[in-house]
Amino acid sequence: MFSEERSAEVVAASFAGTPDDRLRTVMGALVRHLHAFVKEVELTEAEWATAIDFLTRTGQKSDATRQEFILLSDVLGVSMLVETINHRTGGASTESTVLGPFHMVESPFRELGADVALDGKGTPCLVSGQVTGDDGKAVPGATVDIWQANEDGFYDVQQPGIQPELNLRGLFTADDDGRFWFRSVVPKYYPIPDDGPVGQLLDATGRHPYRPAHLHFIVSAPGYRPVTTHVFVADSPYLDSDAVFGVKESLIREVPEVDDPERAAAAGLPNPFRTLTFDIVLQRS
Ligand SMILES: [Fe+2]
Repeated sequence: MFSEERSAEVVAASFAGTPDDRLRTVMGALVRHLHAFVKEVELTEAEWATAIDFLTRTGQKSDATRQEFILLSDVLGVSMLVETINHRTGGASTESTVLGPFHMVESPFRELGADVALDGKGTPCLVSGQVTGDDGKAVPGATVDIWQANEDGFYDVQQPGIQPELNLRGLFTADDDGRFWFRSVVPKYYPIPDDGPVGQLLDATGRHPYRPAHLHFIVSAPGYRPVTTHVFVADSPYLDSDAVFGVKESLIREVPEVDDPERAAAAGLPNPFRTLTFDIVLQRS
């Protein structure tokens, strides 16, 4: 029988006949932790109604280009925790970080050296690196998927009609030495979308919505575990207070200016330009 003392036990028992082992484990733990939470804070009926309304609005705010539940998971640190638990590398590969909510369109195939900044805005930057295995050997033909916000801090999908479609996205194939390079612009810090319920939560708790400047990567190759990560710009604000807790020390890089007319001409960039070098280490699967 249900009582305050036995609530978790009684409800968990109702799931005891779940045929799927994993689902039974997850539901049992969910019930135990949820009931413990309600008891710890002695949730009022008004707070319960507020929570239901908040989750309802979180769902209603979500559509094909806006995922408010991922944002909620992000600001609660759950996305980063799931990520971290599922990609323990023991230092053998490039560290991973959150996928984030903006990889909702397929990146277009582009040739090495292509310019992904289709709107011509921002500080030109040559991004390059080499993909190697944990044995130090090059991974020829690795797939390098990248996406980033523009100089105003928005992804293309947030500004349809303002930014060109597929702006600042690219899918590259590394060369025979595992090397990749492309032209882009220096990424800028940006706020996560804060005009919805998650923004209200941040506001009510005195938190800012900003993420430090970064460029997203998914790097994969047959026979290796793929890595989903970012490279962060070393002098960016918010490196120590990322709204989604995504920063790892090993992923921060300087983006120095290069004044070299010949190299600029060879890369197809104005002189001077900035450079961002990010080598990737993949672990054998
Ligand atoms: Fe991002």
